Amino acid sequence: MINNEETTIDQMLRPQKWNEYIGQEKIKKHLKIMIEATNKRNEAMDHILLAGQAGLGKTTLAYLIAKELGGKIKITSGPALEKMGDVAAILTNLEPKDILFIDEAHRINRLIEEVLYPAMEMRKLHLIIGKGPSARNLTIDLPPFTLIAATTRENLLSHPLRSRFGAIFRLNYYDLNDIITILKRSAKILKIKITNEALNILAKASRATPRLANRLLKRSRDYALVNDTDIITEKEAEKTLELLEIDNLGLEPQDRKILEIIIHKFRGGPVGLKSLAAALNEDQGVIEDIYEPYLISLGFLQRTSAGRIVLPAAYKHLGIHKQGGLIE
Ligand code: ADE
Repeated sequence: MINNEETTIDQMLRPQKWNEYIGQEKIKKHLKIMIEATNKRNEAMDHILLAGQAGLGKTTLAYLIAKELGGKIKITSGPALEKMGDVAAILTNLEPKDILFIDEAHRINRLIEEVLYPAMEMRKLHLIIGKGPSARNLTIDLPPFTLIAATTRENLLSHPLRSRFGAIFRLNYYDLNDIITILKRSAKILKIKITNEALNILAKASRATPRLANRLLKRSRDYALVNDTDIITEKEAEKTLELLEIDNLGLEPQDRKILEIIIHKFRGGPVGLKSLAAALNEDQGVIEDIYEPYLISLGFLQRTSAGRIVLPAAYKHLGIHKQGGLIE
């Protein structure tokens, strides 16, 4: 049988219970109150928006919420909803207490948004049947469902859509200890033996992101297997990172290139996003969303009104000396 092993493993690693979801304590606390109140009232929960970097556990949270509310979860994404008919089919197939999860909500097109507004506000679906003079309006009542939308780019969400959520939760990067706890749990599920030193190395290189931490664990497990050892030690962890060209703080070649270009071509900054994107031959949105947040969280980069500046900690990490304004 051919199956997609990675997907199966990822599903195995997804927390099944609320207490298995590590970190994001404030969000969990708030959500638990919302869920308990909803269950007491026996109503559908308010729609919620989950914002934050990829891999921080937005989908995982949505699964857990659905479970707590006793509903099923239907998963789709902004770009997958192309036509009115797509949304209409999904909405009319929902049952009471169901969760509709829309990933990449910033990519929902305007036409679809218009359908979602009354669906969210009044749980009604307004459809226009036919074209021209014979066109008719049709309104369908929808069951009490909850929309959970997720986005990596909250600022791109239209104001009318954003204002229709009863709560917005912004997921943060995880503490090192939380990532270690997540890795320990994953190692146990996958029956992997790993030393504390190796856990620490992988956690530090995980960009404070559970999905990436688990990915590093899976790759170290491959490395150990191929090298005929059944335990991941410091050596296996380090070799895996070396193969993946990931350094001890989780920087990848493109992260280092961003810092080096600002340092060498723009004298450490400030440099505008447009110029930086052109010099890197990279999309502005990708720089802003994928690379910069982690570099900023490390204290390596600063966004100022004049542009991006590389901070002293980055020079130190890259081993570049800056003396009297001169870069050696
Ligand atoms: N996988 C993704 N997010 C997680 C979390 N917060 N805790 C445990 N496993 C996770």
